Amino acid sequence: MSRKLDPGKLVIASHNPGKVREIGALLAPHGMDVISAGELGLPEPEETGTTFAENALIKARAGTEGSGLVALADDSGLCVNTLGGAPGVYTADWAEADAYEGGPGRDWYMAMGKVEGKLAELGPDADRSAYFACTLALAWPDGHTEVFEGRANGALTWPPRGKLGFGYDPVFVPAGRNLTFAEVDPAEKHAISHRADAFAKLMKAVF
Ligand code: IMP
Repeated sequence: MSRKLDPGKLVIASHNPGKVREIGALLAPHGMDVISAGELGLPEPEETGTTFAENALIKARAGTEGSGLVALADDSGLCVNTLGGAPGVYTADWAEADAYEGGPGRDWYMAMGKVEGKLAELGPDADRSAYFACTLALAWPDGHTEVFEGRANGALTWPPRGKLGFGYDPVFVPAGRNLTFAEVDPAEKHAISHRADAFAKLMKAVF
């Protein structure tokens, strides 16, 4: 039995304003008033975990320790089955480009190409199945934690298709569909995404 979440202030342990807005809108109907770790000026902890759950817990614990409030964090990534789940927790790292167009930043086309290159090494019959994972962690000031894991199964396509979404969306075709996550309306993606799956589990457990 999960611990219930009482209405009130909740820290979203993220410095990404888009993510904070999206999560805030989902939680508002349950009486949760969200504030981000960024707005509170909390430092971003180093994500040293080797699983999504470890990294989500590191961020959630830092959020509650820095604020004295309950904190919610997420960690997500793309896992390719035949690559042993890579890039997995290193999904964002695979896009790090320090000499990219004159400055550091994230190059998602390069990252998608890296994944495709590894599949190509395995030959034309390589298993192209993959899934997006999203883990949500809640941490309370007394040390209690809850973790919820969501998934969206699918397969990788090449070349990339579509201009919507972000990250690896242009190469990910969800199971039972023909269009990539970057070719469908964001509302359609959000209905079947790994994040939606994890949030549905969280909502059911804590409210
Ligand atoms: P983080 O959870 O913010 O650390 O991000 C992990 C990385 O996984 C992101 O930078 C994205 O590249 C990738 N990722 C997570 N969710 C999605 C998604 O829905 N579409 C495409 N890429 C995603």
